Amino acid sequence: MQRSRLEQVRKGRRALWIPLVAISLFLALIISACQSGAEPEAVAPTAVEPAATEPAPTEEPASEPTATAEPEEEATATPQPEEEATATPQPEEEAAVPDELANGRYIVNLTGGCGCHFNSELGGLAGGNRFAGPFGVVYAANITPDQETGIGSWSVEEIASALQTGARPDGSQLYPIMPYHDFSLLSDRESLNVAAYLLSLAPIANDVPEREVTSDPAPFTPVNDPPAEPATDPVARGEVLVTIARCGMCHTPRNADGSVNMDLFLAGATVQDETSANITPHESTSIGQWSEDEIAHFLVTGMYPGGGRVTGSMAQQIDRRFSNLTEADALAIAAYLKSIPPINHDPYAQ
Ligand code: HEC
Repeated sequence: MQRSRLEQVRKGRRALWIPLVAISLFLALIISACQSGAEPEAVAPTAVEPAATEPAPTEEPASEPTATAEPEEEATATPQPEEEATATPQPEEEAAVPDELANGRYIVNLTGGCGCHFNSELGGLAGGNRFAGPFGVVYAANITPDQETGIGSWSVEEIASALQTGARPDGSQLYPIMPYHDFSLLSDRESLNVAAYLLSLAPIANDVPEREVTSDPAPFTPVNDPPAEPATDPVARGEVLVTIARCGMCHTPRNADGSVNMDLFLAGATVQDETSANITPHESTSIGQWSEDEIAHFLVTGMYPGGGRVTGSMAQQIDRRFSNLTEADALAIAAYLKSIPPINHDPYAQ
């Protein structure tokens, strides 16, 4: 039941790309840029490295940090970088982080630390990063709890709703560079926890310019209402995690127009100068022979079943994000990867 629900959501998201084809390339590049630079680790907000398959036309926000933003050393340093980056993420005494904040931080880290919003000058999620494309110009919002310039006057419910639907409290619609289509799979509880976590950060005053877009984005209603609680079925949970962690950004190839090639969903892709593996359960071209335990172990440690550790951008993602996965979540991702159709595709063969 849950799987078909999620399937519908995915179909809904797929259908949603159709009207967006013209800008999908730009969005894809931007989203992957954000995603890969995502940890508000002292690094630039939108470092692009493994993201784009074509030269990014939307380089403004991303470009200068692009090339060198993420030296390997930083990558391996700190899996929970929010503290340093945002100054005071732990509102009260160290030991007294309520579960909801810890869970909110966990989800934020998994999605990439809201890195598009990271303002490297101000050292927090104060926004201001500029995203330009044929749609116009938008600026990442200040998502610190500053009353005047940030989201300090929003309730947790309003923030959670913006995450899941892109609707602001005033009814206006966020531009879909903000990946609310993906976040619409998040349960209400987790979205509320993310909101509580954001509100616990130190407020930073930063007045972000108004967007200038050719047309306002259409309202977005998730095909199904987000569930109240996280899915307990591992496969369903795994699909949510793979979606919000955006594994497909690197592991699914793109069509010429930049849209995601769903025929090769998670079957491996060449991303800039790197090839990402096929992670469908195909026996000979992919990880079909790995057990779920082996996949889960790889995700949190980077260690291959046969020994040796992964390098490159996957190692970076593990160090920054996936090493924080709970055992249950790592196993859920493994269960989901085992459940999708095996695709006979060797991305290393070209
Ligand atoms: C920033 C890009 C990027 C993201 C995001 C990413 N990966 Fe990877 N992944 C790679 C690359 C590149 C490789 C290949 C590394 C190599 O061969 O050295 C890889 C390798 C793997 C492998 C090893 C497969 C094999 O046959 O060697 C698995 C499993 C995997 N990724 C799963 C995932 C999952 C699950 C996610 C999301 C939770 C994910 N990856 C997100 C880039 C990425």
